[in-house]
Amino acid sequence: MKSLVILLFLISFLLNLHKINCLLKLSLESSNENVKWTLENRNKSINIPGSVPGGVYTDLQNAGIIGDILSGYNDVLTRWVAYDTWTYTSKFNVSANNLNSAVAKLVLEGVDTVAYIELNGIPIGLTKNMFVRYVFDVKTYLKEGENKLTFNFESPIDYAKNRSRQHFAAPECVPDVYNGECHVNQIRKMQASFSWDWGPAFPSVGIWRNVRLEFFNGAVIRSITTHTEKKDTIWFLTVKVYLDTSNNIRNISGYLSVYLSVEGHSTIKIGKNVDTQTNSDGTFDVELEMNISENMIREWWPNGYGSQYLYNLLVFFTTHGDRSDREISHKHVKIGFRTIEIVEQKASLILGNDTLAGQGLTFYFKVNGHPLFMKGSNWIPSNVLPEINENDKIRIDNLLTAARDTHMAMLRVWGGGVYESDYFYRRCDELGILIWQDFMFACAMYPVDPEFLDNVRAEIQHNVLRLQHHPSIAVWAGNNENEVALRGNWYSTQAQFDKYKAEYIRLYVDNIKPIVESIDPTRRYLISSPSNGRKSEEDGYIAKNPYDPHFGDTHYYNYLADNWNLNIYPQTRFASEYGFQSLPSLKTMKTATNKTSDYRIDSDYFKHRQHSPNGYSFIESQINRHLKLNKDDPKYFEKFVYYSQISQAMSIKAETEFYRQSQADWYTMGALYWQLNDVWQAPSWSGIEYGGKWKMLHYFAKSFFAPVLVSPRLTLTENVDVYLINDRIVAIINANITVEMFKWNSFTPIKSQSYLANAKPLSSEKQFTIDLWDADKKDEIFLRFALQADGVISSPQNYIFPVPLKNAKGLRTPNIKLDVSETTAVCGNGTSFTVNLNVDTIVPFLWLEANSIDGHFHDNGFIITEPKTKVHFCTKEKINAQQLKRGITYKYYEN
Ligand SMILES: *[C@@H]1O[C@H](CO)[C@@H](O)[C@H](O)[C@H]1NC(C)=O
Ligand SMILES: *[C@@H]1O[C@H](CO)[C@@H](O)[C@H](O)[C@H]1NC(C)=O
Ligand SMILES: *[C@@H]1O[C@H](CO)[C@@H](O)[C@H](O)[C@H]1NC(C)=O
Ligand SMILES: *[C@@H]1O[C@H](CO)[C@@H](O)[C@H](O)[C@H]1NC(C)=O
Ligand SMILES: *[C@@H]1O[C@H](CO)[C@@H](O)[C@H](O)[C@H]1NC(C)=O
Ligand SMILES: *[C@@H]1O[C@H](CO)[C@@H](O)[C@H](O)[C@H]1NC(C)=O
Ligand SMILES: *[C@@H]1O[C@H](CO)[C@@H](O)[C@H](O)[C@H]1NC(C)=O
Ligand SMILES: *[C@@H]1O[C@H](CO)[C@@H](O)[C@H](O)[C@H]1NC(C)=O
Ligand SMILES: *[C@@H]1O[C@H](CO)[C@@H](O)[C@H](O)[C@H]1NC(C)=O
Repeated sequence: MKSLVILLFLISFLLNLHKINCLLKLSLESSNENVKWTLENRNKSINIPGSVPGGVYTDLQNAGIIGDILSGYNDVLTRWVAYDTWTYTSKFNVSANNLNSAVAKLVLEGVDTVAYIELNGIPIGLTKNMFVRYVFDVKTYLKEGENKLTFNFESPIDYAKNRSRQHFAAPECVPDVYNGECHVNQIRKMQASFSWDWGPAFPSVGIWRNVRLEFFNGAVIRSITTHTEKKDTIWFLTVKVYLDTSNNIRNISGYLSVYLSVEGHSTIKIGKNVDTQTNSDGTFDVELEMNISENMIREWWPNGYGSQYLYNLLVFFTTHGDRSDREISHKHVKIGFRTIEIVEQKASLILGNDTLAGQGLTFYFKVNGHPLFMKGSNWIPSNVLPEINENDKIRIDNLLTAARDTHMAMLRVWGGGVYESDYFYRRCDELGILIWQDFMFACAMYPVDPEFLDNVRAEIQHNVLRLQHHPSIAVWAGNNENEVALRGNWYSTQAQFDKYKAEYIRLYVDNIKPIVESIDPTRRYLISSPSNGRKSEEDGYIAKNPYDPHFGDTHYYNYLADNWNLNIYPQTRFASEYGFQSLPSLKTMKTATNKTSDYRIDSDYFKHRQHSPNGYSFIESQINRHLKLNKDDPKYFEKFVYYSQISQAMSIKAETEFYRQSQADWYTMGALYWQLNDVWQAPSWSGIEYGGKWKMLHYFAKSFFAPVLVSPRLTLTENVDVYLINDRIVAIINANITVEMFKWNSFTPIKSQSYLANAKPLSSEKQFTIDLWDADKKDEIFLRFALQADGVISSPQNYIFPVPLKNAKGLRTPNIKLDVSETTAVCGNGTSFTVNLNVDTIVPFLWLEANSIDGHFHDNGFIITEPKTKVHFCTKEKINAQQLKRGITYKYYEN
């Protein structure tokens, strides 16, 4: 940061010295007090203040016309909003000085979605893709004094329906239980805005990203792409700068300079005279190269493997000319130096060709020369309204730091949401979270008429240019599940398989691929997720089995088998989706309804919120396998919620550890579970509830993703294979794994044994196999595993429960004493506490809740095997120990 401040100071000094003009920008956002926006519906019965950036649902809520959209049945009760048409209008003043500039442009960073735009009553353009930046030349339409800008939005539902008449592509609609809308594949907006299995339909309209006027004479820097490549001791940095003039400026001359801040507070500068003709649309680009000795920078690493060094890159373009009309445009990005590739090589070369694992191709990420197992999750938008997702930085921060704090190194930005905000990717750069970036196509066939393809090409070009420089972006992927949907006939497309296949290739291969590869030649573009990677490509893009475990990535869901059992999971090279549902806490659900009669699994309300067909019965049957829950229990609902979270946490723990164990021989090299976050208070696959509360799953992720983990597997023959997983770049030598056997009613192990353990860097290795010592009394016992190793500060304990907990004998009702003491640790604006727990027997799944107190436990969902446990709690606001003690309640499992 320091070097950036110095640089900016230097620049402003230079500008003053030489009297160079800066590009003038006039914000047209609501935060500019000279710009007022209003929002009106078709019949003008509603006329309220509008917000920009913003959207119609936000504005209607603020005006009190609709209530909280996430409350009760409001997703369907407010649907009229999406069928109406809406007009956003603003008035603003333009000065004579502004109009002296040769060029005036209206820059719209994001409009959702179909809008006819008028300036002073004259049509200036049409938007039809919420993911595209639109730039309109408005010099001839602006006037001195007051101007009027109008956006007339079409109903996205009607627009999609209309287009489908001529360009139908399957499926027609989302399933009925989603309470959604049809033909979302016809409109280039967030696909989940017409509803998804984890979220409600809010087919939004609005101006969701920044809007401004730009006045200038020369050129504006729009995007910067950077390529870093390392050879021997030199990093080769290629900077490509994309600029925009005006359609009628054909020749441009100027000077482009690039400053890179490096280690030791120094700056490398390069520059180049530019004398060029622009493209027919007034754009042009300039490329520069910089050679940087490796000791001038430090490598960027994903979370858990090293630090995230980022370097300021400043680019200036100064037009030539007389002093008075020399003009400067600048742009700043932060870049990181790292190499990344996906290695798809013959698995037999590593694994031998006589094993099943040796078939096919490897699929793993190699970062800075090291093969890294990718731990993480899948990201959906942080809010169902794109304007909130875009602009609520605290929400984004909380979610991304929650991912960082649970050892995640990769998130997949899933293809039914949005290309996220610049802020999102910047935070991922800073936190070391790699991004698997889908393009926004999900679970559908898509039309390929020329208008649609033009629209998509603009979208891909814009977003790859916008995001390319982020070191966090690891890979691009064309779509979510569309290859497997066609192969698997999800949408009854079999009769037209060849037609849809040809269209699939036209869209993702003929149109999207060349754009990605020309802007970003070194990052891998996968056509789909899941896919067989190179093998799908060789097989003509629709593989026979896109889920083939020997190639690429897979998505795996199984609600019928025993999800706590590691042996049910099939192998995969890379698990990019897998998950199980749970219910959010009562605290979170109460923000959506307080009607007592709603709080039954079979209530209309709970049916309304469950979009996964048979969802509750899958949760219930999973619970019933392991936990005792009687239908006539007076606390049935409350327990169902708590048990659903235990069940989900244990299922994802089992599957994740199975994948991590399978890293042995590099068979499996990634585990991204579905899904990190939520958009409403409803059953879903998320680990974090809407509002930010962590489910048990997210606490468990802290352990099952731990960099060093002892991970046991109870095999089908009732042996226990014990793995040591080491996600560090250093080996573990001469460590001890202690195995202890406990009865369910005593803290004293009845048996204990230590085993020597060693692990190579970045490895998972089976260390030893034991039998269940007391096989005939296995309903009375469980095993605890712990690691002692030099240089490993902490490694979580792990457990094997030989029989389902509901059959465990000896579990007693515990006496639990809870005490709270304030600590001096810093904790944002809140207070830090230690919660001391004293118990007199083994307690499974002890779950603490702070109820009305907002805050965060450091750990939760404990398997208590010792009399004393301490846990740190950090509040959001200042409170005292008495208040906290009164606020905390707990739950635990008992038969
Ligand atoms: C005007 O539109 C609103 C919202 O769509 C609707 O509720 C109302 O009935 C309409 N009024 C008239 C007079 O058509
Ligand atoms: C534009 O300027 C005029 C004259 O100063 C003023 O009356 C008017 O309110 C201004 N309009 C806006 C939208 O600020
Ligand atoms: C849909 O099509 C009809 C008939 O062509 C047209 O009148 C109407 O304006 C269209 N509506 C939208 C939202 O495109
Ligand atoms: C632009 O430059 C080209 C080549 O140098 C020249 O032929 C042309 O006349 C120039 N056009 C304008 C509008 O200055
Ligand atoms: C960078 O190094 C390459 C190869 O060593 C050389 O060809 C090129 O001229 C150098 N570029 C700069 C800008 O120094
Ligand atoms: C398996 O590998 C061996 C040794 O590399 C080679 O001789 C043999 O041809 C391979 N077999 C197949 C089926 O690829
Ligand atoms: C339910 O009650 C709580 C506590 O009084 C309140 O904070 C919440 O807003 C209520 N929820 C709804 C949907 O009204
Ligand atoms: C492992 O156990 C052995 C034998 O009990 C002991 O000497 C050694 O210090 C232990 N190592 C660690 C890292 O705890
Ligand atoms: C602490 O409070 C200040 C002032 O309200 C706020 O600006 C800041 O973001 C808060 N910090 C945290 C970590 O919440």
